[in-house]
Amino acid sequence: MTQKIKVVVIVGARPNFMKAAPLLRAMRAGKKIEPVLIHTGQHYDQTMSGSFFEDLKLPKPDLFLNVGSGTHAAQTAKIMLALESELIRLNPRLVIVVGDVNSTIAAALTAKKLGIQVAHVESGLRSFDETMPEEINRILTDHISDYLFVTESSGIKNLRREGIDSGKIFFVGNVMIDSLYQNLPQINRSEIIGKIGVTKKNYAVLTLHRPVNVDAKESLAKILKIITEAVVDTEVVFPVHPRTRKNFEAILADESIDPRRIKVVEPLGYLDFNALVKDSLFVLTDSGGIQEETTALGIPCITLRETTERPITVILGTNHIAGTDPKKITAIIKKIKQGKNKKNHQVPKWDGRAAERVVKILQKKL
Ligand code: UD1
Repeated sequence: MTQKIKVVVIVGARPNFMKAAPLLRAMRAGKKIEPVLIHTGQHYDQTMSGSFFEDLKLPKPDLFLNVGSGTHAAQTAKIMLALESELIRLNPRLVIVVGDVNSTIAAALTAKKLGIQVAHVESGLRSFDETMPEEINRILTDHISDYLFVTESSGIKNLRREGIDSGKIFFVGNVMIDSLYQNLPQINRSEIIGKIGVTKKNYAVLTLHRPVNVDAKESLAKILKIITEAVVDTEVVFPVHPRTRKNFEAILADESIDPRRIKVVEPLGYLDFNALVKDSLFVLTDSGGIQEETTALGIPCITLRETTERPITVILGTNHIAGTDPKKITAIIKKIKQGKNKKNHQVPKWDGRAAERVVKILQKKL
């Protein structure tokens, strides 16, 4: 029997887990690759990590680096230090990184400097806003990767403009949407809306965790005030990210955010969160991935940012870029309530088979 090719898959933070799950499944099914799963420990709580492993039926990581939280430099450096010796010991043919979190760049840089090839899944996305830590992580990771797996056509254009060799770029589709489709039966069985006490198509979902929106008490208060004013007659369910929690509690103590209007819940697991989104009237978010999931589910999304690195969700999908302009948000909500929201078109290659394409290419090239 020929020996399998050893490939390390890195996960670290919440938005990585649903991207790694279909890749691991496709590698096992392909039988030529032996995946080794390494969790950096960037996210470590049950709500941010453990529940995702359960919901997505991810195997227990082969290694947990336990790096935890810290400043960007501290977190990135800790991941690199912890990972370097493990990669030397494991000596894989390739390291796969996904998305744009600190674990992504830290692992890519560590592998590349050891002479190990790097594959970046979800490559080529650009917000052109370098104040976002994720934008820096994306650019740097792409420029040291050997295989760049792209989710949407804008990615190909961005990478070519930056001078990346076309031979390294592969347009495969979206592994995050693979996970969504694979898990739809379980998502449909979730009882979360009853548990929260809202009814189908009668509520909005809000998520906020970008440092620029939540790290200062004043910015968080401002954005929540805008949302309470713009969203009238609709309850807003707000699963609060740990990053947002501290300032949110401080605001509740001295300002009057009406708790009957904004229903605060703990961060939800993967299946419950997508069930909540699927039955909602619309979503308000500053996240990246949720712009894609709402597009795939056909749910209107109002993105509370000035830019998106995922333009296809606006061109073909249900996404509106509203910034934090109350007038814009109100006008979009009005349209949604009149049933005039953007219609959803099938996004090329978001068909649940992106991970299979990635693995096929790797099996051939490695
Ligand atoms: C990270 C990613 C962001 C992604 C987000 C999803 C980077 C630069 N940012 O941001 O792109 O959208 O994850 O959640 O990688 N904390 C806990 N429990 C945990 C993890 C974190 O309480 O399990 C708290 C800690 O106080 C920590 C804070 O959340 O300081 C922020 O965590 P961190 O990993 O630094 O970044 P995120 O804001 O989660």
